[in-house]
Amino acid sequence: MSDERDGNITSVLFVCLGNICRSPLAEGVFRAGASARGLATRFEFDSAGTGGWHRGDPPDPRSIAVCAAHGVDISGLRARQLSGTDFERFDHIFAMDRNNLSDIRRMGSGRADLALFMRACLGDNQDVPDPYYGTKSDFDQVYRMVRRAADSWFETMATRVSG
Ligand code: 4NP
Repeated sequence: MSDERDGNITSVLFVCLGNICRSPLAEGVFRAGASARGLATRFEFDSAGTGGWHRGDPPDPRSIAVCAAHGVDISGLRARQLSGTDFERFDHIFAMDRNNLSDIRRMGSGRADLALFMRACLGDNQDVPDPYYGTKSDFDQVYRMVRRAADSWFETMATRVSG
């Protein structure tokens, strides 16, 4: 796996509860963002859930749909549970909400820098709300938050990878 310290590849793991709504959406949006900026080879993005109930499942159809509406295909992703090795494999682990953050802390620690997603990307100490029991508009809101966060994060990272 990549190592940010080698100056080449930055790896990020997005983590939510089920790994079917928010974190696969973030994985897709960040992958698309890297590709659009010609930076696909500079980053690795993955996602996982603190829970394992949806292991092997594709993303929620509502996450697939909102991504597809914005030209991002996440239909091939499959859910997995966060594992102990993830704390060594990734440079960054971003928790989508504060419950995820405290669950992740209980599940392990390691080299990875663990942070709340919106705080890491925007300096905004805010949760990405769980849309699982919500409506299409909740998924639209998640997409908008993640997209805004991605644009900000890449802006910050671009200054680091341009050298
Ligand atoms: P996610 O949403 O954490 O954004 O993937 C959820 C998905 C499934 C469940 C809860 C939240 N669930 O209870 O099964």
